[in-house]
Amino acid sequence: MKINIVFLLVAVASATSFAQTTAGLKDVYSSKFKFGNILNGSTVNNAAMKTIVLREFNSITPENELKPDATIVASGSTDDNVKVQLNNGAKAILQFCQDNKIPVRGHTLVWHSQTPEWFFRTGFTSSGAVVSAAVMDKRMESYIKNMFALIKSSYPNLNLYAYDVVNEASSESGGPRTAGNGDGKSMWVQVYKDNSFIEKAFTYARKYAPATTKLFYNDYNEYIQAKRDYIANSIVKPLKQKGLLDGMGMQSHLDVRTGSDPYPSPTLYGQAITIYKNLGVEIHVSELDATINDGNESYFTGQATYYKNIMNQILTNGGSAITAVVVWGIQDDQSWRKARKPLLFNASGAKKAAYNELVNLIPQSDWGKPGSNSSSSIVPSSSSSAKPSSSSVAVSSSSKASSSSTAASSSSKASSSSTAASSSSKASSSSTATSPSSSSLANSSSSHTATSSSSSDETLSSSSSEEEDITPILGTGLSIQSSQSITYYSIKGEPLGSAKPQKAGIYIIKQGYSVKKIVVR
Ligand code: XIL
Repeated sequence: MKINIVFLLVAVASATSFAQTTAGLKDVYSSKFKFGNILNGSTVNNAAMKTIVLREFNSITPENELKPDATIVASGSTDDNVKVQLNNGAKAILQFCQDNKIPVRGHTLVWHSQTPEWFFRTGFTSSGAVVSAAVMDKRMESYIKNMFALIKSSYPNLNLYAYDVVNEASSESGGPRTAGNGDGKSMWVQVYKDNSFIEKAFTYARKYAPATTKLFYNDYNEYIQAKRDYIANSIVKPLKQKGLLDGMGMQSHLDVRTGSDPYPSPTLYGQAITIYKNLGVEIHVSELDATINDGNESYFTGQATYYKNIMNQILTNGGSAITAVVVWGIQDDQSWRKARKPLLFNASGAKKAAYNELVNLIPQSDWGKPGSNSSSSIVPSSSSSAKPSSSSVAVSSSSKASSSSTAASSSSKASSSSTAASSSSKASSSSTATSPSSSSLANSSSSHTATSSSSSDETLSSSSSEEEDITPILGTGLSIQSSQSITYYSIKGEPLGSAKPQKAGIYIIKQGYSVKKIVVR
């Protein structure tokens, strides 16, 4: 008995000393911005996940629990009074954040996805007719009003510091989404015929949100030129000028694509940061993850380098405009893209190389006191081999691959990738690819850009006598159907249109949140 008590005292003493010296990401980056993550109805009830959150993060976004399909209730709703609820997951997350004084990013109010179609139909029923814009104005205003009121009344001490008012309203080529439901179409556009609902959403949000809640527009592929420029010039800039918007949420679902160049290149990503920053808005990196091509852990080193290079862009180009960086998931096995292990902790909760690279970027003299960003008790960290670097955070070039190695590595990846199983034989003849060097990513011209076009449905002109169907190269899951509109980008990230790429070269295809590199010969 005596021995047990002594052992216990030693253990407590040792844990206490760890607690005083071990910093989490929120502490390492405390002089820069909030460092956040997500919780969902499952992870919020998992002790190990809560331990990591309390140690590492000082911003939480509910992953799905505040989306329209989780909060709008058809029964009892009228055009003037839309019923809303918080499900058990939402309640657990918001309670946890209020109890531990963790600031919350609300996500999201107006979105084409995860929003019931009946919300746009008479009687709040699937069989109803699509309502008019005037009716939808009332429903949207009521929904936004009631959501903010419900959160405030349920969690009066919650620090709801930011909210994604509108999510993903831009098409891939810049402009409104196609009207309709499902497959990336938008019922908001169906009702309003254009993107005029965006300003209305921000007007209502400004009216009903707490004064301390910053209002964000949030989108993905936000670094690709045509989409980026539309978001910046047609959404963020005018709303900022009208005082309706505070910030831009750069989702940042990125792809390391080990074996070839990462996409986006850190340079392209940094250019987007600069463009949004120049509008005078805050920037949140709101949903950061960076996939590897498959689950092979030997790629974790390349992933770590990519995270470091992206963070360098955030630090140098973003500066004080960046007020939060939020990773979209705690452990790889919990990620919505878990097959490609995109996060900072592995399935056992251990820190990955990417985590350590992020710690190494900030000199320890800049770190905050562990726990200073949260009132919670800090749980000792298991292993922190990360040594702070004394070097500065200079931007490092990450796009060094030559054109020939780019093509070669692409083909070798293609042959081992399950999603491109059918592509290996075609993609392997790299010598025929007119591959622009990605090291000249910024400001250089290539034959690809000569035909670049952001207009949709335009057939690309071809300089190749060897036109062939791209479909076999795309492989499973990426085959083109004639009805499908897919936007193509050159390796430089420039939109080439949305037709079958008949021109030889290397192309990046972004389909939704996925990226694929293809070689056309
Ligand atoms: C994702 C969630 O992580 C998944 O659990 C869900 O099945 C689909 O949505 N952009 C967003 C997020 O704004 O809401 C999405 O979250 C990821 C892409």
